[in-house]
Amino acid sequence: MTTKRIPIIAGNWKMNKTASEARDLATAIILLVKNVKNRDVVLAPPFTSLQAVAETIKKTDIALASQNLYWEDKGAYTGEISAEMLLELGCKYVIIGHSERRQYFGETDETVNKRLRQALNKGLLPIVCVGETLDERESGKANQVIKGQLKGALKDVTAAEMERVVVAYEPVWAIGTGKTATPKQAQEIHQFIRANIKALYDDATAAALRIQYGGSVTPDNVSTLMAMPDIDGALVGGASLKPESFAALVKFT
Ligand code: 13P
Repeated sequence: MTTKRIPIIAGNWKMNKTASEARDLATAIILLVKNVKNRDVVLAPPFTSLQAVAETIKKTDIALASQNLYWEDKGAYTGEISAEMLLELGCKYVIIGHSERRQYFGETDETVNKRLRQALNKGLLPIVCVGETLDERESGKANQVIKGQLKGALKDVTAAEMERVVVAYEPVWAIGTGKTATPKQAQEIHQFIRANIKALYDDATAAALRIQYGGSVTPDNVSTLMAMPDIDGALVGGASLKPESFAALVKFT
């Protein structure tokens, strides 16, 4: 396939950075990445820091993402955040189904699908996360797990809607552990994800889909990962919290 996919580098700040810290981090990142062309750069601070980061990045090409959203429009859902709230703050993307949400907050393929559908209906661009645990990998079930997560997450999502979806492959065993998937291991799953999208949709949809890798991505390993034919970006936790390392990731060659 020759479809050109623009690399997408996203910083998932998780539960880090108060609003004032977030402003400082975003300001430092802007200075370091301002001349970078032909890459999508995305920052996903916690909800409470979205406004601060939105104001800071306003005159730049950096896009804002939230780390979650709720699937109802509004109402009695204490503690939840709606698509409209995120849109008003300037969010363009939303991370959905991160493994930490699946692991600690009861997220299932079904709730991932509801959030994904809501994001698409409301005009947010979803970054939907999939990935196997160490046990699942060691028992040879990685492909089966990913296939199930994709099918569940993408239920009732049309080919036209898929143009707005990004998939992130984040092996659970590689997140925050310093244990990155080798480029070959990551490429195998990325290729598998693309093949699944082709089976669920069609050639063009599969060829256009951007698939990010996440899990202990650092300035030292980003280039070998990004050199793989089916790796189109990175979803970065730890290394996105320091301006120098995040900028180095954005500027991978
Ligand atoms: P780390 O980069 O800290 O391993 O986290 C990856 C991740 O979960 C990004 O969403």
